[in-house]
Amino acid sequence: MRVLFIGDIVGKKARIFSCQIIKEYKKLKKVDIVIVNVENSAGGFGVTPDICEDFFFAGADVLTTGNHVWDKKEIIPYIKKTEKVLRPLNMVEGTPGIGLTRITTEFGCIGVANIMTNLFMPASNPMFDYLPQLMEKLKLDKDLNFSLVDVHGEATSEKMALGYALDGHVSAVVGTHTHIPTSDYRVLENGTAYITDVGMSGDYNSIIGMEKKISMNRFLNLNTKNSRLEVSKGEPTLCGVLITTHDNGYAKSIKPLRVGGILDKNKFSKE
Ligand SMILES: [Fe+2]
Ligand SMILES: [Fe+2]
Repeated sequence: MRVLFIGDIVGKKARIFSCQIIKEYKKLKKVDIVIVNVENSAGGFGVTPDICEDFFFAGADVLTTGNHVWDKKEIIPYIKKTEKVLRPLNMVEGTPGIGLTRITTEFGCIGVANIMTNLFMPASNPMFDYLPQLMEKLKLDKDLNFSLVDVHGEATSEKMALGYALDGHVSAVVGTHTHIPTSDYRVLENGTAYITDVGMSGDYNSIIGMEKKISMNRFLNLNTKNSRLEVSKGEPTLCGVLITTHDNGYAKSIKPLRVGGILDKNKFSKE
């Protein structure tokens, strides 16, 4: 199976560009399954039902989120009714929506979970308390062809620990949230593909996707009134990973994908 996971979509330009790429890759059969983190897809903050529908129409199979999931309130009634848009699994009891799903596709049954780390993140239940549940529900077997955990968080150590804990149980553990891609993508010893952070899909001539002057002022002028953060409007880079798996669901390879904008290496090498 070939799976494309796309990191945090930041704003409209990145959203439209990612939908084009998803459509193209699915049409050309370059990928079988597409999973997208959409937590910043609505103006940098949250996601709306219409945006989710746009991604599904383009060919996305499951959407994940993170700490920004509730920034647009209209997502609440929508998330309650769908099994394909996830919020972090370890949000406190009574939180709308689900954090783990198993769906049937033309390529077999796939399982996806979204979970949030604890260090330097908004309060949620301890992530590692959910390890037995992840292992039980996402363990590859004859009924589950692919499984992926989107671990959303700031601390690289926690993400790595979760990756190793799930090695040999799931197809892939991929990190999101920092908006900066890491280069430690690899298949771990027991067959699980891993990357600490996929990186955002957005304009990298920015501070994590936001207009850099406004964002910089928050650091430089500590005593001035903060102005509202805005999505940076330059050409976006789509940051993702392409994961290929064996018939048993374990990972054969994981490779970074960077298309468009200033992180596109192909573009860079042509100059
Ligand atoms: Fe994000
Ligand atoms: Fe986040």
